[in-house]
Order: sequence, then C-alpha cells, then structure tokens
Amino acid sequence: MSLPKDFLWGFATAAYQIEGSADVDGRGPSIWDTFCAIPGKIADGSSGAVACDSYKRTKEDIDLLKSLGAKAYRFSLSWSRLIPLGGRNDPINQKGIDHYVKFVDDLLEAGITPFITLFHWDLPDGLDKRYGGFLNKEEFSADFENYARLAFKSIPKCKHWITFNEPWCSSILGYNSGYFAPGHTSDRSKSAVGDSAREPWTVGHNILIAHGKAVKAYREEFKPTQGGEIGITLNGDACLPWDPEDPEDVEACDRKIEFAISWFADPIYFGHYPESMRKQLGDRLPTFTPEEVALVKGSNDFYGMNHYTANYIKHKTGTPPDDDFLGNLETLFYSKSGECIGPETQSFWLRPHAQGFRDLLNWLSKRYGYPKIYVTENGTSLKGENDMSLEQIVEDDFRVKYFNDYVNAMAKASAEDGVNVQGYLAWSLMDNFEWAEGYETRFGVTYVDYVNDQKRYPKKSAKSMKPLFDSLIKKE
Ligand code: NOJ
Repeated sequence: MSLPKDFLWGFATAAYQIEGSADVDGRGPSIWDTFCAIPGKIADGSSGAVACDSYKRTKEDIDLLKSLGAKAYRFSLSWSRLIPLGGRNDPINQKGIDHYVKFVDDLLEAGITPFITLFHWDLPDGLDKRYGGFLNKEEFSADFENYARLAFKSIPKCKHWITFNEPWCSSILGYNSGYFAPGHTSDRSKSAVGDSAREPWTVGHNILIAHGKAVKAYREEFKPTQGGEIGITLNGDACLPWDPEDPEDVEACDRKIEFAISWFADPIYFGHYPESMRKQLGDRLPTFTPEEVALVKGSNDFYGMNHYTANYIKHKTGTPPDDDFLGNLETLFYSKSGECIGPETQSFWLRPHAQGFRDLLNWLSKRYGYPKIYVTENGTSLKGENDMSLEQIVEDDFRVKYFNDYVNAMAKASAEDGVNVQGYLAWSLMDNFEWAEGYETRFGVTYVDYVNDQKRYPKKSAKSMKPLFDSLIKKE
C-alpha cells in the first residue's frame, strides 16, 4: 500500500466539453461558441452545443460516478451561466447558480467530493468583444475576481477550488498558434515587436493576476468560514534528453519544463518568471509590479497537475526566434538511438510514458518545495477508437494499461520519493468534445453514444479504477 489513507481519486470533466444546453436557462455565449462557428476550426465541424447533454443529465452522471466507486469529481463552472455577459456590472443569472448548487449538493449526498474549476477555457464572449478579454489586465482580472467571489459565496459546500485550467493553452494555443479560441496568431516573424508578438505573454501574465485576485478574495472572505483550499492547474509534459550524453540537451529539458510549467509556477512559488524565459523573451515578457508580486507569490494551497505525455528534447543552436514558445529546442517522439517514447494514440501529441510522470512529480516537488499535489488530469485517447465497434471500444485494454502504469508510477513517487500527492482525477469520466479535435478523439473511461441517445457505456478502464486504487491506498 503506497498512497496515503485519505487519498482522493475520481474523474474529471469540463463544462463546455460535456454540458451542451448552450441556450438553456439563460446561459450566455462563450468564446468557444464563437470559435466553433468559424469554418475549419474544429476537425469535424462540431461544437459543444449538445456535447454529452450533461447539463440535463446530472443524475445520470452522478449515478455513473457512484457506480464506479469515485471519491471525487472535478468539473468546471460555465462562467456565462452564472453571469451571461461576464462582467462585474452585468446581471447575474440565478438559474445558472441554482444548477451548480444543486449539483454540488447531489454529489455530496452521493459521498463524492467536488473539485470545482472556475475557468476551463470558456470565457464569456461578451468580455472578449467588450475589451479584448484576457488582454485587458485591469478589466479581466476584476471581472474574474467578481465571478470567483460569486461562485465562492454561492457554493460554500465546495472545499476544493481551482482558479484556472492550463493557462499555457489559453495563452499559446489561444494567442500564438490560434489553434484554440479566440484564435489569435502572434506574428511569428523575427522582426515582430508589435502587440501581436506580445499577446501570448500578456495573456499569461493577466491570468496570473486574475488568479492572485481570486485567491486573495477566497482567503480573506471565504476560507476563514468555509475552510476550503484553492490552487491553479498547470499542464506539463515529461522530458528526456534526445542525447543523454549531450549537456545541452539535458539542460534543454529543464528549459522546456520552465517554458510550460515554471512560466506560471515560478511566479506563484518564487514571485518572478524563470530566468530562461526572461533571457529569451526580453521585454516581451511582462514584469510584475511589487503589488503584483505580493498578490501572486504564495497563492497556491495546492499544485494542480495535468499530465499526459513525454517528449525527447533536443537543444537548438543559434538565436531563438522571437516568439519561440518552447525555449529554443525541438520536441520529438524519437531519441537519437531511434527508440520511440511510447505507442501512438489518437492525439498527435500524446505518447504514454509512465516513468516520465514519476520523474516530473519529482522535478516539481524538488523545485517547489514538496507542495501538496492533486493530479487534476491524466488519461489517454486510443488510436482509431472512434472507428471501432461498441464491443471493441468497451474492451479498452490500452487505456487500462495506461492508468495502471501511471497510477503505479505515482504511487511509487509517493511511497519512495517523498512526493506529497493527495489526489488523482482521471481524464475523463466520459468521451466528450475534445476542443479543436471535435468528437473524433475519445478520452473517456465511458463511451458516449452521441449519434443515437447519449447513452453512457462504461469501458473496462472505468471499472478498473476502483480495484486499482483499493490495492494502493493505505487502510490506516
Ligand atoms: C487537457 C484539458 O484540460 C482538457 O480539457 C482536454 O480535454 C485534455 N487535456 C485532453 O486533451
């Protein structure tokens, strides 16, 4: 037995990916509704307008969680259900609030601990249109703080709050590559010094400020009576040097993690951006005012870790391009010796490598002083799953193995390396809208029949979780 006695495990989802009911009960549009309507942005031309219909199937989803033995469930609130236009002077939508209050009550009654993500990418469209959304520091952070306060006040029974999910994605995919909403592309030319070349870094900075403001509000106004905890969720891949004998490749591994994780975690734990980023990005990386440092430094009660994959990392010689968000390196699936990091999945960026999970848990723990960690996402898609028969789909041995390997790697990190991991939420409770990949990529432990009746069919992996955790969690 190697996981702590009170270890929380369960599954995760996000509002736009599962809820559907885009026009129901006064919900306002989000940037993802707008983005999905642009031809060519989503692989199968779909959107989250219907998704898994979870807004109307809360009982079914909770019954599913219960039947799988889950102790915890991570889901996100749709900001534009609570405040349809998003802003601090805009009307509040009581129906949206009531929906989530009841959902949390029902979860608790089922014995399931809720983890609420305040922001999982679906910014109210009104804020993007009104003042440029994330790009406007004062307006965006004040509106987020207001929304967060409304959520804390309305749902006092929730004790685990996550401010932002994967701000790297909002910043880089939303404002550099344009792969995600709102689809901005920063000017990649070396001479670009204008606003667009700064946008990803500005967005990241403004999200950190908004996170800091929400945490301050929670700690001062709600935590003393509610007694919960709050943190941010960051994504990051494990890194192996392309050539382990080459010190430049070894160093590039750290740089890759710094450009993904430490971009946000260094300000939160140390009060400044990593040196590698300051060096490469120069004055395109914003600086923190003393007030901002005070707001952001120390603003995590726990570290939320989303983790899926690993890469081989190769140092690139020469001057980095101005907007190279990787840190002057290449990420590859194959090492110098031709050995591949792991089998292909349906997701072009995902190759299983469980040892990398253990290594990254260690890397994070060492750098940030062994913080309490919740793994807020971990999971895999499966190559070709969308084209299989239902009989084949539910026999998802590939996913069973993935979870078994990753959870055991985490248990070893806990028992043998002193990593303080206290929870694990598998991605995802069910197949859902996989953003720009649409519905073709399935990450669920439960199959969802989108075409006929939205019926849920738990796969083998869904049922494998309880025995797996039962075998690892200490009894006392
Ligand atoms: C991370 C994101 O938070 C989630 O929304 C997404 O579906 C998974 N990764 C899988 O790509």
